[in-house]
Amino acid sequence: MLSTTPNLVQPAKEANTCMDTFAASTSAGHTASQTTTPANVQIQPRNRSHDIAEALRGEWLADDAFLTAAFNGMSITFPAGEKFFIDAVRHYRDEITDPELQEHIRGFCGQEGFHRREHQRYNETLCEARGYDLQKLEGKLTKRLDWARKNLPPIQKLAITVAIENFTAVLAELLLSSDSIMNKAEPSMRELWRWHAAEEMEHESVAFDVFRAVGGSEKVRIAVMRRATFFISLELARALFYILRKDGQLLNFQLWRKGLAGLFGKQGAFSGGLALYKEFYAEGFHPWQQDTQQLLVDWAGDAPLAVS
Ligand SMILES: [Fe+2]
Ligand SMILES: [Fe+2]
Repeated sequence: MLSTTPNLVQPAKEANTCMDTFAASTSAGHTASQTTTPANVQIQPRNRSHDIAEALRGEWLADDAFLTAAFNGMSITFPAGEKFFIDAVRHYRDEITDPELQEHIRGFCGQEGFHRREHQRYNETLCEARGYDLQKLEGKLTKRLDWARKNLPPIQKLAITVAIENFTAVLAELLLSSDSIMNKAEPSMRELWRWHAAEEMEHESVAFDVFRAVGGSEKVRIAVMRRATFFISLELARALFYILRKDGQLLNFQLWRKGLAGLFGKQGAFSGGLALYKEFYAEGFHPWQQDTQQLLVDWAGDAPLAVS
């Protein structure tokens, strides 16, 4: 079930900080286009709240402990990751001269702010309901991101954001497709994941456009994607192992076999994802090179309480 929520504190703060910059930068008067987002795609933060407490107690995805653990594990990585992405993009906002890209940055910050809040709530509710230790689950990732924040140059942090935003865009495409695994999810969870996926698709080129506008190179973009792939896989695997161990399913090899097929098999959740992911490594790639707008149109028609 969907409802709007009055809790706007953190995301509104994030969107407003971007908004201040927007006002300041547009006065510069430079309007060269720096964005690749299609003109009719709006990057619109939707302040939604999802009633998922009951679903999180059980195996909400395809009634399968492995698939549920895999997606719950993914959720664990979102709040810290999305904070990092907002900061990485925001660092460059004053260097962006295109008012349209400035506005997209504002939309990006607002959307990621709401995602962060919703997944923080998701993660806390999940851990309380199922006896997981949230600090243990996300502690290593938080430390890794803190290290990156302190030690990496801003362009590398932006390149990490570009890389992981591409992961989320690929996932979004899969989750919004008509044969998505989310069709087997408990309805409130399906709504949450597809809302997040749609907004990820809307803003999929924002970090990329900023990276390109501030002179980020193809070499750095591609090299950082290789490293990011390794680390994000490690974090997701860590979360999955922790959850399965806590659920008493770590050595249930039948569950593993079925679950891995459910993710990576021919009809699996991520089927087709590898080809989309590989496109990132081509020189001249950009996130909107495949026009996926129809998925957004379909989603808007499907969402029962589309709040705009
Ligand atoms: Fe997000
Ligand atoms: Fe994103």
